[in-house]
Amino acid sequence: MHKDVESILVSEKEIEEIVLRIAGEINKNLNGEPLLVVVILKGSTPFAMDLIKKLDMPVEIDFMQVSSYGKTTESNGFINVKRDLEQDVTGKNVLIVEDIIDSGNTLYKIKALFQDRKAKTVQICTLLDKPSRRVVDVNVDYVGKEIPDEFAIGYGLDYCEHYRNLPYVGVLKRSVYEK
Ligand code: PRP
Repeated sequence: MHKDVESILVSEKEIEEIVLRIAGEINKNLNGEPLLVVVILKGSTPFAMDLIKKLDMPVEIDFMQVSSYGKTTESNGFINVKRDLEQDVTGKNVLIVEDIIDSGNTLYKIKALFQDRKAKTVQICTLLDKPSRRVVDVNVDYVGKEIPDEFAIGYGLDYCEHYRNLPYVGVLKRSVYEK
């Protein structure tokens, strides 16, 4: 285990099981219909790349990067699109892939944006969910694991851009960010 990790929240093995379970649910629900997978940069990239390999319908991939205005540790309900999709979502089945849902603001806004752009369906998939932090009610279609309100890092999740490459999700030691 990395020296800055207090404990493991989701192990490599558990991540593999989550990926297989969620991919199975998506394959069943889509029933062979084509899917546009939207990867929300940067944190969801490892999860999204593992997930797409288990999908069995025709898949397109695109990327979006957003930031919350004035984000410190809390988000305030506004998002800024830093990088938009290349693809037109009109008439497509869209799956938004996230690493974590916290307040719900980001996903609420992105889902509404794709609905405005006349996507055929918009579904949300997240590796991690912190329901105790929810501010906005957003319907999440596929959840890997609900976690407590701890500082999660690894498998895409960062602290000051570090730790994204850890192969598991862990809790960051307080001593690292309370220095
Ligand atoms: C995280 C996460 C979501 C958002 C969730 O991204 O990937 O996009 O925050 O928070 P919310 O539910 O309160 O809106 P972050 O801004 O940390 O960017 P990153 O993935 O590039 O690290």
